[in-house]
Amino acid sequence: MALVALNEDTPSTVGPADPAGSAAVVANDLVVEGLSKSFGTGNPILDKLDLRVPRGQALAIIGANGTGKSTLLRCCLRLIEPDGGRINLLSHDTTRAKARELKRIRSRVGFVFQRHNLVPRLTSLTNVLHGSLGRGGGFRCWHQALATTDRRREAFACLDRVGLQHVARQRADQLSGGQSQRVAIARMLMQRPELVMADEPVASLDPIAGEEVMALLSELMRSQGLTLVFTTHNLRHAVDYADRIVGLRGGKVELDCPARGQRAEDLETIYG
Ligand SMILES: Nc1ncnc2c1ncn2[C@@H]1O[C@H](COP(=O)(O)OP(=O)(O)OP(=O)(O)O)[C@@H](O)[C@H]1O
Ligand SMILES: [Mg+2]
Repeated sequence: MALVALNEDTPSTVGPADPAGSAAVVANDLVVEGLSKSFGTGNPILDKLDLRVPRGQALAIIGANGTGKSTLLRCCLRLIEPDGGRINLLSHDTTRAKARELKRIRSRVGFVFQRHNLVPRLTSLTNVLHGSLGRGGGFRCWHQALATTDRRREAFACLDRVGLQHVARQRADQLSGGQSQRVAIARMLMQRPELVMADEPVASLDPIAGEEVMALLSELMRSQGLTLVFTTHNLRHAVDYADRIVGLRGGKVELDCPARGQRAEDLETIYG
């Protein structure tokens, strides 16, 4: 199905071509315009970069080490301050947002890191419950929020969706790498995100666990129609689990193509 981006000035057609010729009209969840970022005096890491991601799209970002993939994701949430440009995330201009609005926007975005960042001495269930802390109520009454039966039931359900209800009572530091990353995904689901950013989500896992977790993440996002932006050095994962692949080089988008029909070997040119 061809996707036509709507909510920003210039409509754009992205995603794989639809043999039937019909087009679904969807909003952009992320619009990046002219984004620039330098660290120090060298060449800019991001150089007036433009990118639009329609709602529901799974986008893989590839590129050599140091090309700014993580910097791009972090700038979108203003975990790193951009030098210039504009970012519209979930219909909010994050570049202009003040602290309180920024916090609200961030609470709607799930972030999965290369390393799971679970609290080691807490159980899987409590780690998952932490995902709901940014929702309503705020952090002031966090222990009450965590204690409610509804939230605990929901946390169990999130663990179930990643196939790990049976480790609910197990401490996070007793889990395998693959299990830990699944619990981190359950925690992210508990946040009820509208868009998910995953920075090399399976890079620290062995190939089998990595494949399983990537498939799980992709399926969970697809089943809820959520937008997924993930970075990866695994070009096969980009082809298999994304709708669209964007390659960064020299601070800009060098490659932008539908994932379907690509051969992982052909994408290696982005590293050249
Ligand atoms: N906080 C920082 N301070 C200084 N330099 C930084 C900072 N963060 C990133 N950089 C530099 O910016 C460049 C891009 O880094 P970034 O982590 O975004 O690349 P990447 O494409 O994610 O790489 P990788 O594939 O290794 O994850 C690198 O040269 C890195 O050293
Ligand atoms: Mg990175």
